[in-house]
Amino acid sequence: MKAARIHAYGESSVIRVEDAPLPVLQADEVLIRVVATSVNPVDWKIRKGYLKTFIPYDMPLIMGWDVSGIVEKTGSSVTRLKTGDAVYSRPDIVRNGAYAEYIAVREAEVAAKPATISHVEAASLPLVSITAWEALFTTANLSKGQRVLIHAGAGGVGSIAVQLARAKGAHVTATASAGKAALVRSLGADAVIDYRAEDFSAVARDMDVVFDTVGGEVQEKSWAVLKPGGMLVSITDRPSEDRAKAEGKRAAYVFIGPNAAILKDLAGMIDLGQVRPLIAAEFGLNDTAKAQDFSETGRSTGKIVIYVGHP
Ligand SMILES: NC(=O)c1ccc[n+]([C@@H]2O[C@H](COP(=O)([O-])OP(=O)(O)OC[C@H]3O[C@@H](n4cnc5c(N)ncnc54)[C@H](OP(=O)(O)O)[C@@H]3O)[C@@H](O)[C@H]2O)c1
Repeated sequence: MKAARIHAYGESSVIRVEDAPLPVLQADEVLIRVVATSVNPVDWKIRKGYLKTFIPYDMPLIMGWDVSGIVEKTGSSVTRLKTGDAVYSRPDIVRNGAYAEYIAVREAEVAAKPATISHVEAASLPLVSITAWEALFTTANLSKGQRVLIHAGAGGVGSIAVQLARAKGAHVTATASAGKAALVRSLGADAVIDYRAEDFSAVARDMDVVFDTVGGEVQEKSWAVLKPGGMLVSITDRPSEDRAKAEGKRAAYVFIGPNAAILKDLAGMIDLGQVRPLIAAEFGLNDTAKAQDFSETGRSTGKIVIYVGHP
């Protein structure tokens, strides 16, 4: 099969689109014919070797931990899925990903694709949606009427987080640069702070939850906008527990894994029109390096998708 692989860590020039062996299917897995995959910042962080002490990959490695496609074949113990099913998944990040014509994924990590959107749109959703869901709901327990500040409301994670928080009935404030404010409002933000023109920590107040998708100074300044007992939940830098205690606030760091149950609930919301995918750009598999370079700029609006093949 055709796959975009790396044989060593490095810049995007190490990505090679080449022939690779078809994945060997285990009993509890399905072989998915990939229609589309998407780029997440973790892809180029892994490519650059930033996670190598945390996840020791064997080379060559296929990146891309989002997939939408068609079940081609099922393992002997698979019961829920069958050949021909349209599915989407955020597969296990310690294994080969979906920048390829085929990927083997454990049945437990796979959900039915939302019926009302394309594979390209569906491929944009799993990783960022599981992330936003686990941060806002599973971890911070965001509920109706609460106030949440979501950093980078136009980003891959942020654009879904704004919509999920809105659907929950929370009051949503998001940060975004001025040109993206109208879009972020259209996703459901009640207020948008142009983080380049003004200091968000001087404007936002009394938040029950801050969702930090940026880290560094943004996280440092986020403590000030939380109400007493409020929670800072980050997916970038682990917030200090000592600082949380000293401030009378709570902190959590989230690093997500596969979660088909969330993808099932999300598909329901998508098909009801409560959440919509936001696509920044679509590339072909041959242009995987360009797609990662774009992600690395940190300026994309929504998700960067790689279209692999016909459904
Ligand atoms: N822990 C986990 O499990 C997990 C899961 C998913 C993602 N992550 C991490 O979370 C981070 C965000 O991921 P992503 O996919 O959302 O990234 P992304 O799509 O590349 O984010 C790009 C967006 O960030 C905005 N942005 C950049 N700096 C900003 C700032 N200071 N304030 C507000 N907005 C800013 C940009 O808007 P402008 O152009 O307007 O600046 C752009 O729209 C990455 O570091 C990623 O690795 C972690």
